[in-house]
Amino acid sequence: MTILKVEFLSLTFVRPRHVFLLLLIVSIILMSLLLAGCSSSFSVMPRIYLLNVGYNGGTVYQVTGDTVVNPDASVLLGDIVGQTQLEVRIGYFAVCLRSAPGAWLCSQNATSLAQNLYAYEDPINLLHVAQTFREKIVFPYLLIIAAALSFIGFVLILPYPPLLKTVCVGICFLSAILVLISVLWQHTASVAAATVATNLANGTVFTGVGITAMILGWFSFGLLTLTVIGVYFFVAINALHSG
Ligand SMILES: *[C@@H]1O[C@H](CO)[C@@H](O)[C@H](O)[C@H]1NC(C)=O
Repeated sequence: MTILKVEFLSLTFVRPRHVFLLLLIVSIILMSLLLAGCSSSFSVMPRIYLLNVGYNGGTVYQVTGDTVVNPDASVLLGDIVGQTQLEVRIGYFAVCLRSAPGAWLCSQNATSLAQNLYAYEDPINLLHVAQTFREKIVFPYLLIIAAALSFIGFVLILPYPPLLKTVCVGICFLSAILVLISVLWQHTASVAAATVATNLANGTVFTGVGITAMILGWFSFGLLTLTVIGVYFFVAINALHSG
């Protein structure tokens, strides 16, 4: 009875294309979340960031190594930095900050965020570093095109003609490649900027790469790849049956 029911379900209601539609919808949602990261202080938004930079709150982690010429730099910069605890998070279109552990303040307009800060809260201009990173290095447009292509793929799976599904394979493949480039770009740029920032600040600031943003990016790539493989085999099997 159960087997019959499951077969009944899988044959009439849950068609392969419904699975592909679900995969595409989820990957579009993940990409949208990634693009919207930091754009509001609501809920999980401040946790979706590419890179964060912040002051160590008075603790100085002295840089060590054979190439350190001026070991006093950490102490000198530590004096300038003082006890501030400001943390800045950078998303694709916006920046979040908080001057003490607590609520986040997020805006697409970093100028308006800067107007709320005093000089002692951001002594070596981390907000400016963050804004420069966002403006000059972060590149959201591949991801936007990928999301648009996934949506076109979604629309093409809906109707019946198999030809459109072949087109869908191509479009979803392109979308997956764009997401892959975007995620690699995002990861490389964030790690590079994080390493340079901590060393240049001689251990007075911390940096981190956003794990949630990484997961969102890699998951949407994975889902798109699954869709491409799935639709490809679906089209191939249908062609075998009819031909
Ligand atoms: C950003 O905020 C500043 C100050 O609040 C304002 O002068 C500027 O026009 C804003 N920029 C945009 C693009 O909204």
